[in-house]
Amino acid sequence: MGHAVVIGATGQIGRAAVRALAEDGWTVTAGSRGGGRDDGWPAEVRAVTLDRADDAALAAVVGEGCDVLVDIVAFDAEHARQLVSLADRVGSAVVISSAAIYADETGRSFDTQLEPDGFPQYPVPIPETQSTVAPGEQSYGTKKVALERELLAAGDRLPTTLLRAGAVYGPHCRSPRELYFVKRNLDGRRTRVLAHRGENRFHPASVRNLAELIRLAAARPGSRVLNAGDPEVPTVREIGAAIDAVMGVETETVLLPGAAPSLAVGDTPWTTAHPVVYDMAAAEREIGYRPVVSYADALPETVEWLAGQLRDRDWRAAFPDMASAYDPVVDLFDYAAEDAWLATYTS
Ligand SMILES: NC(=O)c1ccc[n+]([C@@H]2O[C@H](COP(=O)([O-])OP(=O)(O)OC[C@H]3O[C@@H](n4cnc5c(N)ncnc54)[C@H](OP(=O)(O)O)[C@@H]3O)[C@@H](O)[C@H]2O)c1
Repeated sequence: MGHAVVIGATGQIGRAAVRALAEDGWTVTAGSRGGGRDDGWPAEVRAVTLDRADDAALAAVVGEGCDVLVDIVAFDAEHARQLVSLADRVGSAVVISSAAIYADETGRSFDTQLEPDGFPQYPVPIPETQSTVAPGEQSYGTKKVALERELLAAGDRLPTTLLRAGAVYGPHCRSPRELYFVKRNLDGRRTRVLAHRGENRFHPASVRNLAELIRLAAARPGSRVLNAGDPEVPTVREIGAAIDAVMGVETETVLLPGAAPSLAVGDTPWTTAHPVVYDMAAAEREIGYRPVVSYADALPETVEWLAGQLRDRDWRAAFPDMASAYDPVVDLFDYAAEDAWLATYTS
């Protein structure tokens, strides 16, 4: 298949992508700052130490050239320009973008979600033609749009597939949304509270399905954006029930008709005020995407990995990135607040 260079190879997506590419016959160079490797990679995968902030180091890893450059950790226009500067030595690129770039008809996006009535109300499902936030330096979403636009504008020199990933999950996730349920179950909490009757839907993206999309895009170079997610979009209630089934526990769920009474009660990392569901038809049509795993089938390895991470550590030590993202807003495991609310609740 040729030579593939992967930037960000030891993260949750990279591990699965390197494996999928290697198993498909690519000669893979797997780059990360730590230079590590995954136990599931074939021995032929070459793990290298690479900080993509160092242009010369990236150029050296690409060397005389590669057929595909897979960039899992591109975040802004500067990263796009860095990739385009290597276009004479790179056949094509596959770059991870995010569905956080979408804006609704009134301009709301993930950037406005903490404002009153700020959560975007997207069409269901969201096609790739949906409007986006404006490119800029302000936020994660605006930077990703800038990244996309730079790469699409250079499509004649470097054909790039941009994969707009949904909510990514799998082993080695640094901010695992499943933790909300897994930790409660491990802590013996058997009653949970879900706002919006637990009916919210936020499109999940298994690392295995993302790896499959990367594998397919690598073999079919093009200049395009594609949504990247699982075949189904379970509700929050279904996610909780699926985790219970994997862990063999029975729980009771208090389903609230409306919004959460407070950030600490009834909201989960999977909870969104309105559905976020991606149209996957373009990926199917343009690169032949057929999901390799469903949410329920992908879950056991994620749950097992999460439980292993919590075995001898506090969750904040196991997932410092997640703690620093959520702690300023809410304590995800504020059991005292939950118990106080449950004590006053009458259905
Ligand atoms: N999480 C989500 O729900 C979600 C949703 C949509 C899109 N995304 C996108 O997914 C991507 C993140 O992928 P992921 O979740 O697999 O990330 P991750 O698990 O955090 O892993 C990041 C990987 O990149 C490496 N890395 C970080 N900085 C690097 C640098 N400067 N040079 C080279 N390697 C570097 C890390 O290893 P070292 O630390 O050893 O370098 C690691 O291998 C981002 O593009 C993000 O926007 C995520």
